[in-house]
Amino acid sequence: MIRKLSLSALTALALSTGGALAAGGESHIEDFAFSFEGPFGKFDQMQLQRGLQVYTEVCSACHGLRYVPLRTLADEGGPQLPEDQVRAYAANLSIYDPELDEDRPRKATDHFPESGLDNAPDLSLMAKSRAGFHGPQGLGINQFLNGIGGPEYIASILNGYTGEEKEEAGTTYYENTAFPGGWIAMAPPLSDGHVEYADGHDNTVQAMSQDVAAFLMWTAEPKMMARKQAGLTAVIFLTVLTVLLYLTNKRLWAGLKGKKKHA
Ligand code: HEC
Repeated sequence: MIRKLSLSALTALALSTGGALAAGGESHIEDFAFSFEGPFGKFDQMQLQRGLQVYTEVCSACHGLRYVPLRTLADEGGPQLPEDQVRAYAANLSIYDPELDEDRPRKATDHFPESGLDNAPDLSLMAKSRAGFHGPQGLGINQFLNGIGGPEYIASILNGYTGEEKEEAGTTYYENTAFPGGWIAMAPPLSDGHVEYADGHDNTVQAMSQDVAAFLMWTAEPKMMARKQAGLTAVIFLTVLTVLLYLTNKRLWAGLKGKKKHA
């Protein structure tokens, strides 16, 4: 049984590293430092708000966030917009209502729209469905400390354009150092100063791409902070329990152990 298990574990390991190497071969993922990395990491509320702005002004032209309910923009641990701003944000987006048989403004209880462009993937879960870290670095501990690199992958793509273009079967492809295969059908969406932040925050491509990547990490895992908190509580609880059990055990056997010594 154990032999069988370890054999299948080995096979799984071999397969996964093989796949990762094949996929990661030439693409380059930069390891950005995000505030939410590590066991104590937290989302930076201001960064999530800036990321929402970049998504709204740039990415939403093509990409949807169909799995994200608009009301969660007000949630604690997220961008935490005031409720009236969330309602106003929702009202700016329309949705087809089959009962009215016409478009109506969205409510906070509706979701973000779907992708407007057919070949642009939905971004709701993108930060969890792509891994930036592969190979020896990606083994366990690095992923525990830095995550699997989804937001790094997104930010690297936005920063990874070389400026080269080519046309194939009527589609333009742009050379990108982070995209597997090296050529992506998405034109560089950002340029320095493209989005004006109200607080005058750094709006270079580098900065904006990290902001929007952090926001997309939040859409993919909105409860990350609660999960880390629960994990930490569990670790503390188990540590205390271990100490108590150790002491109880010592006490339970104290009589017997003591007798043996004197006999
Ligand atoms: C003009 C339309 C357009 C805009 C604007 C746009 N994208 Fe894209 N995006 C695309 C298309 C099309 C693809 C599919 C490219 C491909 O598969 O080669 C894509 C692919 C992606 C991918 C997927 C890569 C993968 O692994 O499949 C990510 C991530 C992404 N876009 C993020 C963004 C972000 C973030 C923004 C805003 C800063 C943005 N996009 C703006 C059209 C767009």
